[in-house]
Amino acid sequence: MKKITIAIDGHSSTGKSTLAKQLAKTLNYIYIDTGAMYRAVTLFAMQQGFITSDTFDADQLVANLNHVFLSFKFNEDLGFAEIYLNDENVEDKIRSIEVSNFVSKIAEVSAIRTKLVQQQKKYGIDKGVVMDGRDIGTVVFPDAELKIFMTASAEIRAERRYLELQEKSPNITFDEVLKNVVERDKIDSTREDSPLIVAENAVMIDNSNLTKEEQFNLILDLAHKAINAV
Ligand code: DC
Repeated sequence: MKKITIAIDGHSSTGKSTLAKQLAKTLNYIYIDTGAMYRAVTLFAMQQGFITSDTFDADQLVANLNHVFLSFKFNEDLGFAEIYLNDENVEDKIRSIEVSNFVSKIAEVSAIRTKLVQQQKKYGIDKGVVMDGRDIGTVVFPDAELKIFMTASAEIRAERRYLELQEKSPNITFDEVLKNVVERDKIDSTREDSPLIVAENAVMIDNSNLTKEEQFNLILDLAHKAINAV
């Protein structure tokens, strides 16, 4: 059976990665979470002191980008590939609210985007990939056979994120999470380099009122149609 490239973009906390992982598993494709790559660079910048609570030294970070080595290793138990920063598994560390609060700023820096996009394109050379992010259908794989754009109301997305984060950060408030979601949308959609926009030919899915099962059935059907069309 022919393999295709599936690009899933959309607003933050729309459940893109959960769906993308499930889709990749069902199709026996590789799954790449590009948000995790921007998050890992953010963690690196925090660890090196290039980011503090009120400063961000973008030039220092860019000058040290050759010390950032990102890789994905498949975890059999979890059923997906986890991200490694310089050979350390950082899958958990990159999900903190501190990283979330800063990642959009990191994702604005063109030199960082160029490095990560180059790596992302390589993962797609043989097709058979499901990749999620903000610029996959527009910049990384403009020729992807299937492009999906996911969205939902900001309140619904913040509620989902809030429930998820409570385990790790029990003191977090709903308003804090909502603020983060709204701010990230704004920065991601208005930045100069590769802003979050709906790619040409993308199928728009608003999942505010869809169950996970309904969403999955919808995208699996789209994937089968796209595969049969090549
Ligand atoms: O998908 P996520 O929430 O883990 O992504 C974290 C941030 O990374 C998001 O706010 C914007 C940025 N990002 C990006 O600019 N381009 C991508 N392809 C993926 C993520």
